Amino acid sequence: MEGTKRPFHRPALVGAVVSLLKPERGGIYVDATVGGGGHARAILEAAPPDTRLIGIDWDEEAIFTARDELEEFGERVILVRENFARLGRILDVLAIPQVDGILFDLGPSLHQLVSGYRGFSLHADGPLDMRMDRRLPLKAADIVNRATEEELERIIREYGEEPKARAIAKAIVKARKERPLGTTLQLMEVVSKAIGKSVGQDYIHPATRTFMALRIAVNKEVEQLKAALEQVPGRLKVGGRLVIISYQSIEDRTVKHFLKEWEGRGVLKILTKKPVVPTKEEVEENPSSRGAKLRAAEKVSEEG
Ligand SMILES: C[S@@+](CC[C@H](N)C(=O)[O-])C[C@H]1O[C@@H](n2cnc3c(N)ncnc32)[C@H](O)[C@@H]1O
Repeated sequence: MEGTKRPFHRPALVGAVVSLLKPERGGIYVDATVGGGGHARAILEAAPPDTRLIGIDWDEEAIFTARDELEEFGERVILVRENFARLGRILDVLAIPQVDGILFDLGPSLHQLVSGYRGFSLHADGPLDMRMDRRLPLKAADIVNRATEEELERIIREYGEEPKARAIAKAIVKARKERPLGTTLQLMEVVSKAIGKSVGQDYIHPATRTFMALRIAVNKEVEQLKAALEQVPGRLKVGGRLVIISYQSIEDRTVKHFLKEWEGRGVLKILTKKPVVPTKEEVEENPSSRGAKLRAAEKVSEEG
């Protein structure tokens, strides 16, 4: 987009995704976060030619990119611009009751994170937006300018795990009394001042945790994930596989809890006793894989 040659996304843990999803003859696979189509391509290339893939993403820029990237696979691919929390509905519309594998590669794509105009970036000024799907009703600016100080503190502490959440919330409320915060740069300045650190002083940007927290709140990431996971056991065939990559501890905790609960019910069997993480070499080669944690499970029986 915008004339850049930067990749849309660089998928993490591709080898583990393909080997754990184990695509087999005649299978139907869902990539619930198709993004730029990197994982989807690897799955389709590794899979027998009669397998099909349903790629879901709620960002129209992702769907456009995936359409180009996966064009050569023709009718093996169906792309749907939707929230993955509507997984069941998407499959119903396609008249597919159950599938052989489902992949979630959570969080934003590299494209979303670095494109200044999307409002996620700590390195480019832009509107305080942060919606992965631009049909969502609330932008980051709405939360920053309208939430109570207590609500801001909760969001920043809970989703960003930011120890200075209280000071940051206070500083935001003080700053917005003078004028509403409308850009990423304005917010970065307020946060950096509240923390008492300037940009470049530490390895990570002082506003990193606050930006992450707002992004999770704007996109209701934890709620969407929980809503999607609830539908997974019923939508997998027995023998079907679920693979989830998360990057934030709140997501990974949600996934771990979900897998344990359904293993306890005798429906899923966890395939990864410990999460699969990228090697040092992968992180060096692909910095966006940093922090990735992959967990996988197989459906072993129908729900009781
Ligand atoms: C980390 S990227 C996936 C990249 C992809 N695996 C690839 O190889 O290019 C995550 C993608 O999931 C999408 N996404 C996040 N939450 C979503 C949701 N609730 N519904 C649909 N798509 C979602 C984002 O828009 C983003 O494009």
